[in-house]
Amino acid sequence: MLFLGPPGSGKGTMAARLSALLGIPHVSTGDLFRENINKQTPLGMKVKKTLDSGGLVSDEITVEILRTRLGLNDAIRGFILDGFPRTIHQADSLSKIDNIDHAIELRCTREVLIRRLTGRRSCPVCRRIYHVDSMPSLVENICDDDGAQLYTRKDDNLESVNRRLALYEKETRPLSDWYGAKGLLRFVNGSREADVVFEEIREIVDI
Ligand code: AP5
Ligand code: MG
Ligand code: ZN
Repeated sequence: MLFLGPPGSGKGTMAARLSALLGIPHVSTGDLFRENINKQTPLGMKVKKTLDSGGLVSDEITVEILRTRLGLNDAIRGFILDGFPRTIHQADSLSKIDNIDHAIELRCTREVLIRRLTGRRSCPVCRRIYHVDSMPSLVENICDDDGAQLYTRKDDNLESVNRRLALYEKETRPLSDWYGAKGLLRFVNGSREADVVFEEIREIVDI
């Protein structure tokens, strides 16, 4: 299954919870890119500027990294995509790689998105996502699970956020019609409290 939705709508938060419940991997192309950037791999060096500024990585590179990830053993029983596909070209490529049972689009007002992104903190070790107000860690800036120092994503500044939101409207919004036409799309109001949003997603995927 896959999550659509603008930056800050909660794709990563909901995908992680669902992954823990279902025991299938949470595959985020954004996380895969950030992992490569942290390790300073050739791919990471190539995409760093694009991620920091809130641009989109080329379809060619993105489809390749996704194809490799879905080829790993743990994805045989299924997977939860977060942040892929983001263009019609990527959706078309995905349809040739595997079948999708559910597409869930998280919807939020712009005001909520900005508040969430500017208050987000992430764990570099386990990838857990926090928010300074709505999902704080027990000790400020320290991950509850592993004690790592939390960080603020480089693309969570207002300039990059605005670019990401604009690119979402231009490149990714058309995917709602694409998955809608296939009868796979469900909309979920992502502005509500996380437990409420998650319950609705569970009902949709019937678990
Ligand atoms: P990516 O990492 O996918 O970023 P994004 O799409 O901009 O989305 P975010 O991760 O910012 O938001 P989210 O929806 O996951 O929200 P979260 O759960 O964290 O991509 C980053 C970059 O990589 C792209 O800009 C691009 O450069 C590149 N890239 C990636 N995929 C690509 C592709 N397919 N093609 C081309 N380029 C690609 O939640 C946000 C905050 O809100 C958190 O603080 C969280 O704690 C809080 N929160 C979440 N839900 C709730 C709730 N219900 N109530 C209160 N707070 C909540
Ligand atoms: Mg995310
Ligand atoms: Zn952690």
